[in-house]
Amino acid sequence: MSSTPDDKTAQLQESAKRNMWLHFTRMGSYADADMPVIVRGSGQYVYDTRGKRYLDGLAGLFVSQIGHGRTEVAEAAAVQGGELAYFPLWSYAHPRAIELAERLADLAPGDLNRVFFTTSGSEAVESAWKLAKQYFKNIGQPSRYKVISRDIAYHGTSMGALAITGLAGIKEPFEPLPPGGVRVPNTNFYRAPEFVADDLIAFGKWAADEIERAILREGPTSVAAVFLEPLQNSGGCFPPPPGYFERVREICDRYGVLLVSDEVICAFGRLGYYFGSQRYGYQPDIITFAKGVTSGYAPMGGMIVADHLMEPFSSGHASFLHGVTFAGHPVSCAVALANLDVFEKEDLLGNVRANEGGFRATLEKLNDLPIVGDVRGDGYFYGIELVKDKATRETFDDDESERLLRGFLSHALFDAGLICRADDRGDPVIQLSPPLTCTQEHFDEMEQILRSVLTQAWTRI
Ligand SMILES: Cc1ncc(COP(=O)(O)O)c(C=O)c1O
Repeated sequence: MSSTPDDKTAQLQESAKRNMWLHFTRMGSYADADMPVIVRGSGQYVYDTRGKRYLDGLAGLFVSQIGHGRTEVAEAAAVQGGELAYFPLWSYAHPRAIELAERLADLAPGDLNRVFFTTSGSEAVESAWKLAKQYFKNIGQPSRYKVISRDIAYHGTSMGALAITGLAGIKEPFEPLPPGGVRVPNTNFYRAPEFVADDLIAFGKWAADEIERAILREGPTSVAAVFLEPLQNSGGCFPPPPGYFERVREICDRYGVLLVSDEVICAFGRLGYYFGSQRYGYQPDIITFAKGVTSGYAPMGGMIVADHLMEPFSSGHASFLHGVTFAGHPVSCAVALANLDVFEKEDLLGNVRANEGGFRATLEKLNDLPIVGDVRGDGYFYGIELVKDKATRETFDDDESERLLRGFLSHALFDAGLICRADDRGDPVIQLSPPLTCTQEHFDEMEQILRSVLTQAWTRI
């Protein structure tokens, strides 16, 4: 007797519960509940084992820029697999990596012309720190090893990247981490200190100057780099205040510190530009990228490095003593090229720029709900901060947050057909980062689901 679709679904559940270990997941929560199993995607939607449809309001995990089910990108992977499935970038190059490096260098701002591939965002961040350290050793400034990053910022999970990450809760189990991580305030204007709470420009100046104060406190010749996202994800989308990056650039130049723009999320159209630094008009020394470079059709990360950082490595016996087996995988490079073709053919950056105002306006309608404290972001990247008291901006305590986010919102939003992220790594927020192909109908669908679920949530507080 052949098995029915229900049998197959049950078998998948059973096997998943027996053998899978999900990332950042309380596995105990699936003891008496089904694990969500997503089987297919098409456009802005994904489908589970029962055929139920979900609007992918998070682009998987800030990844699926061009949306799901693009056969032309899948075909590019198949063709490349037949031609050259694998060859390392250790001492060799291959055509797709060369083509992609050239294309990324053309798209990247200023003199960022050198591409070092990795397989993930964490590896990209790790590589940027290692490059900064070895670069300074090579140019005779060996005491520079420290890295400055912002409170609550997420920069990845490998030990080095975790030392740069500003989330105490996910670092603590792995202490001691590599030394040198230094934290400064982020640009959460909604929670700005009182003395700058009414003045965005003054707040931005203060937040940038905190970087200078940290450099001076640590000793300017001990600091190698500042790692900043163009728009900070963790904590719920903190855009940079006007003038912030201009001042950060000046500070970095004053003390000879490298500015690393961690664009693992913010590159490839998320903010309506190929790179987030282009949107906010600053020139980094290194851009780290991953996620949207392939829209997730294959894994890839990397860093794009300014010419001057390559100089000490470009002659004699010098080499950057770092590498990973699968970096610049031919299939991933072919996929990235096909992904960028889709960006061009469909003018996805234009779509984001044309529609981001509609996205913002639609989400801002939620401001009439008592639980919505702040709606913030840019491009196709928004956070909605939830509060207990709108007037005082009082947030939820740990127990309330636990009940609200994990006890209710995460499941309720999913059950209502919206994939997004209910997160309390800072104050409780809902994060949205949909495929760049979304238009007003998708924004309306997000708003309707959020309105209904947040209204229910308020009655449970
Ligand atoms: C800004 C930033 N940096 C680094 C990372 C780590 O990337 P990955 O999960 O690919 O290692 C992430 C992941 O979300 C990120 O958002």
